[in-house]
Amino acid sequence: MALKKPFTGIGKTYKNMKITKICCIGAGYVGGPTMAVIAKKNPNIQVTIVDINEQRIAAWNNPDVSKLPIYEPGLAEIVEETRGKNLFFSTNIDKAIDESEMIFISVNTPTKTYGKGKGMAADLKYVELCARNIAEVATSDKIVVEKSTLPVRTAQAIKSILHNIGSQVNFHILSNPEFLAEGTAIEDLLNPDRVLIGGESKIAIESLANVYGSWVPKDRILTTNLWSSELSKLTANAFLAQRVSSINAISELCEHTEANVNEVAKAIGMDSRIGSKFLKASVGFGGSCFQKDILNLVYIARSYNLNEVANYWEQVIIMNDHQKRRFADKLIKTLYNTVSGKKISMLGWAFKKDTNDTRESAAIYVTDHLLNEQAKISVYDPKVPKEKVYSDLNYLNTRTEQENQDNVIINDNPYDTVKDSHAIAIMTEWDEFKNYDWKKIYNDMKKPAFIFDGRNVLDKSEMNKIGFEYFSIGQ
Ligand code: NAD
Ligand code: UGA
Repeated sequence: MALKKPFTGIGKTYKNMKITKICCIGAGYVGGPTMAVIAKKNPNIQVTIVDINEQRIAAWNNPDVSKLPIYEPGLAEIVEETRGKNLFFSTNIDKAIDESEMIFISVNTPTKTYGKGKGMAADLKYVELCARNIAEVATSDKIVVEKSTLPVRTAQAIKSILHNIGSQVNFHILSNPEFLAEGTAIEDLLNPDRVLIGGESKIAIESLANVYGSWVPKDRILTTNLWSSELSKLTANAFLAQRVSSINAISELCEHTEANVNEVAKAIGMDSRIGSKFLKASVGFGGSCFQKDILNLVYIARSYNLNEVANYWEQVIIMNDHQKRRFADKLIKTLYNTVSGKKISMLGWAFKKDTNDTRESAAIYVTDHLLNEQAKISVYDPKVPKEKVYSDLNYLNTRTEQENQDNVIINDNPYDTVKDSHAIAIMTEWDEFKNYDWKKIYNDMKKPAFIFDGRNVLDKSEMNKIGFEYFSIGQ
């Protein structure tokens, strides 16, 4: 592709912008599913996903698609259909960059763990490395797409790197944040509420819009300036998380007043101005993004000296931490103020159902708290591998790896997990939990047998009828 300067608009020059090859840097929860869908819907575009993580690329190339590194309903089928035809996974980053006309940056942007902004700001080192890599390798003009979630005004930094390091080639920077949720990623990608593209070059915007245009209706492709696009992503996550913290705040009040949070959620959700989604009270939201993106929003607001704005959004995180902590505290208090030496079973480890992702899962923090109280923990999750549970706990650095190993057992069968437990804590809303033989589970547990349902998935009266002491959120 040869993009000729100057760009005068859509028309003759636009023909030169035909996209035949796309590269995506970052084969993660966003890069993998998003590119798989782009490849499926654009059979004439060759899509190459690259990553520095060799193990991850090898897993994406595993002939057995049930062993892909990411579990998402519908993903394996699409990978099977497209892989080796127009979808490729590779560690040869430079080659893929050089060959492609359009490059997505879809690398992780975690909260900084060091230096200025530690614990609040987004760590942009991976994004910067990508920009430098592109600048150094590119020998032809490129459209560079920010797919990662980035602080508002990051495109300025990317532009500066590309234009100062890059040789004679033209770079066009677009912001195209991703709104998929894990567990429903494929559905969300196939039928998005909107696709957002922010940018300055009309031609570059149009080129990306055409890629999505293969399956997304035109009226759902929204274009804005770069900064609105970047800020809209952080804002969307902040609003969604705020709803969860809002209903969770009400759940605590319900527990003191005999109101039922499910009934309250239904009653307010029927107001079309409020809407019914994202009103499920829970043990607290998890996932790789809500907390990180709100902390980032708070940090940005503070950096502009907007302290009221910063404090307002920070409260969403404070409420979420409170919800996780009070769940664990209630369990301990109910078990006669001690869980020392008692077996507590965690059903679910993923941060939500239908994903194997455990990042920031409430289960990690509740378990850590219970281990501090000397509980013996057993865990079952249908999709999370054993090593992941240990690595999540080890990452906290609260105790030695050996202590985690000694006090946490991970089973691949729910009935073994709960046998002889004093209490069960339901941490993820996996559908299969509803269909277990709860009578058998009751018989196999120590008495009184307690259930703490952090997801309100079971029926209280049914559980009481079996004999359980049943506690849920906000009821
Ligand atoms: P992830 O950690 O699953 O994947 C990121 C990948 O990037 C990793 O495999 C890593 O090895 C690779 N990488 C890092 N630096 C690299 C480099 N210099 N060169 C090549 N590869 C490199 O992360 P994710 O969950 O896919 O998230 C990616 C971005 O998308 C984040 O900014 C996140 O906030 C955003 N996002 C995530 C979701 C989600 O559901 N997970 C949804 C929307 C947006
Ligand atoms: C969220 C957003 O929904 C996506 O739009 C966004 O793209 C993504 O973050 C991101 O930027 O990473 P995700 O974290 O994958 O997606 O999953 P959600 O469905 O939003 O759930 C987040 C957490 O909130 C989960 O722990 C979930 O159990 C919890 N939650 C959600 C509730 O407790 N109650 C609800 O009503 C909804």
